[in-house]
Amino acid sequence: MKIAMIGTGYVGLVSGVCFSDFGHDVICVDKDPGKIDRLRAGEVPIFEPGLQDLMAKNVAAGRLSFTLDLAEAVAGADAVFIAVGTPTRRGDGHADLTYVMAAAAEIGAALTGYAVVVTKSTVPVGTNRKVAEAVAAANPAATFDVASNPEFLREGAAIDDFMRPDRVVVGVESDRAKKVMSDIYRPLFLREFPIVFTGLESAEMIKYAANAFLATKITFINEIAALCERVGADIKAVSKGIGLDGRIGNKFLHAGPGYGGSCFPKDTKALARIGQDHAVPMQITETVIRVNEEVKARMVEKIVDLCGGTVNGKTVAILGVTFKPNTDDMRDAPSLTIVPALVGNGARVRVTDPEGQREGEALLPGVTWCENAYQASQGADIVVILTEWNEFRALDLAKLAGKMATPRMADLRNIYNRDDVAAAGFTAYAGVGR
Ligand SMILES: NC(=O)c1ccc[n+]([C@@H]2O[C@H](COP(=O)([O-])OP(=O)(O)OC[C@H]3O[C@@H](n4cnc5c(N)ncnc54)[C@H](O)[C@@H]3O)[C@@H](O)[C@H]2O)c1
Repeated sequence: MKIAMIGTGYVGLVSGVCFSDFGHDVICVDKDPGKIDRLRAGEVPIFEPGLQDLMAKNVAAGRLSFTLDLAEAVAGADAVFIAVGTPTRRGDGHADLTYVMAAAAEIGAALTGYAVVVTKSTVPVGTNRKVAEAVAAANPAATFDVASNPEFLREGAAIDDFMRPDRVVVGVESDRAKKVMSDIYRPLFLREFPIVFTGLESAEMIKYAANAFLATKITFINEIAALCERVGADIKAVSKGIGLDGRIGNKFLHAGPGYGGSCFPKDTKALARIGQDHAVPMQITETVIRVNEEVKARMVEKIVDLCGGTVNGKTVAILGVTFKPNTDDMRDAPSLTIVPALVGNGARVRVTDPEGQREGEALLPGVTWCENAYQASQGADIVVILTEWNEFRALDLAKLAGKMATPRMADLRNIYNRDDVAAAGFTAYAGVGR
């Protein structure tokens, strides 16, 4: 199959590389000349484990290339995937479809024969039909179908998620489009990964429902964690105790500083807006959005309390600023709320993150960037573990304590336990929900 992938961000690049690894001919397109230059030079513009090697392998095999020229990529393609961003629209919480609709019009103008125009971006219900209208408006003679193929990969584990998915969801309305999509995903089909064929609206809805459910699960356990702190229960024991129930499952039950990232915040907001537009308020999702903001605010209070009621003039070491480990993505990371609040309260903030500095520098003004946890903790009054990168999981706690002015720890990912931290010389420790 010949595939054009429009947008080479976290989803488009991973999808393009993986499709080429399936054996398809893939041309990845982006509007950003800097990105295309780097990709052509063999550089991966994002941090995603394993992507560099897989990309190099498929470029060398002649199945994968990169271009700024959308028309060149679309001409002759069997399928054109739209994988551009759908950020929150300023002011109203809706998904911003500007990039999707612009891509649809460009694709329409460039179609030379039958192709399936596949939306991989996360888009509100009804968008695939608008994409079809935009393609047809740009090129009334075009022969095409649309398909909805939402993506469920997780940054940091994106290749494995793409190659070994829990399921692939495809919304289609014609047998011809279904055949093209089946051929594209045949390698997964052969390995018996479930492929769910459905209508366009259902496919669009599945993506929002899945993300809203996961955000709800995280927020539920964070709320239970807050109660655990008051009643003397330990959230780790509670999570284990409920997670062993097969109906609940043990994933997404880790209490922490609130969900962030490029998907859950914007997708929960968009679902809430879709519900309002259709007079079916998404009350649970609306509450989740509000509670998640409270969770982040509670983390700031926790840090301030550990510091004796104020961080003014204190030095705070922050370990990890990306929204989760194994990514450089800073979009809507809890650090973007927590760090500015500490700076605003007069703290001197020293930050370290294995991959977050490039993105984070512009987003976190007024902080000092450090090489590693030990350097960040030099002279600090408290160390805050915000992202559970592996290198923060096995710290030499005694060495860390020895560098600090006052060895205190806010362990917002519950990596350590109180006794070990105390034995290493820390005088104060707080986790989440314990
Ligand atoms: N990031 C994730 O983990 C994830 C997971 C599942 C689904 N999604 C969804 O996938 C979509 C893409 O997300 P992302 O994180 O990859 O976004 P991103 O911002 O990393 O990448 C989007 C890319 O599209 C390019 N682009 C925009 N308009 C273009 C056009 N007309 N032609 C060519 N290129 C164009 C941009 O330059 C950018 O490189 C979103 O809808 C998102 O919700 C993301």
